[in-house]
Amino acid sequence: MAGLAVIGGSGLDRMPGLAISGRERVETPYGRPSAPVIRGRYQGQELLFLPRHGEEHGIAPHEINYRANLWALREAGAGQVIAVAAVGGIHPAMGPGTLVVPDQLIDYTYGREHTYHAGDQNPVVHIDFTFPYCDSLRQRLIAAGQGAGIGLIDGGTYAATQGPRLETAMEIRRLQRDGCDLVGMTGMPEAALARELGLCYACCALVVNRAAGLGSGEITMEEIEANLKSGMQRVQELLSVLSRKMGTERSDE
Ligand code: HPA
Repeated sequence: MAGLAVIGGSGLDRMPGLAISGRERVETPYGRPSAPVIRGRYQGQELLFLPRHGEEHGIAPHEINYRANLWALREAGAGQVIAVAAVGGIHPAMGPGTLVVPDQLIDYTYGREHTYHAGDQNPVVHIDFTFPYCDSLRQRLIAAGQGAGIGLIDGGTYAATQGPRLETAMEIRRLQRDGCDLVGMTGMPEAALARELGLCYACCALVVNRAAGLGSGEITMEEIEANLKSGMQRVQELLSVLSRKMGTERSDE
C-alpha cells in the first residue's frame, strides 16, 4: 500500500501525536513547497505531513505553490493524500461543525499554476477527471468515521473559489444554482495536480461558517476560528482512527 500523507489546512498546521523522524526540505522543478515535508509515525503507521499554508500559516490560498506541494509529497513517497480543508457550508445540512467528504467539485479559481503539463518539455496530457476524488480513500475516511462514531457526510460538491476574500451573497446564490454544497479556496488546482501525478487524493472538509448570505449576518473570523478549534479536534480523531486502521491492514498484508 502506498504511503499516506496529510495536507493540513487552516487549523491543522501541525499534527499533534505525530512522532517526527525527519523534516525534508524538498526542492522541486516547480520551486519550494509550503514547508518541509514532515515524516513520522502516527498511530503505528508511517505518515507524511505538509501544512498547506506554511508552518506559520502565512501563505494565502492563491499564493500556495500547489505544484511544488504535490510533487514534494510524491517525492517523499506518498501514494495517498488526505487533504484537510476548512470550508463554508452552502447545503442546509452542512452547517458549522459538519464534516464532509466531497465527491465532486467545480473550479472557479483563476491565474493559478494548475498543471504539470505545460511548456515545451512536457507534452500535453488530458487526465480523466470525471470523478475528481479517489473513491477508495473516500471510503476509508467514511469507514473510519463510522468506526469512531464521528459523523461524516458522504458526498457533496466543493466549489473552489479564488479568495482570499470571502464571497458575496450573490456569488453564493450562483454557486447554489450550480449545485455546489461547500465552498473553499484551496481545493483546486490541488485535486487535479494530484490526479496528474497519479496520487490517490480525497478531501476531508470541515464546515466553519455558513457561506455568505446564508447565515444571520456577516461572517466573522472569531466565528471561523471557534469552529476550527472544535472541529479540527474531530478531524484529528478521524485521522488517527484512519491511520491506525491502515497500519493494521498493512501488517496483515
Ligand atoms: N468561503 C470560501 N472559503 C472558505 C469559507 C467560505 O465561506 N469558509 C472557510 N473557507
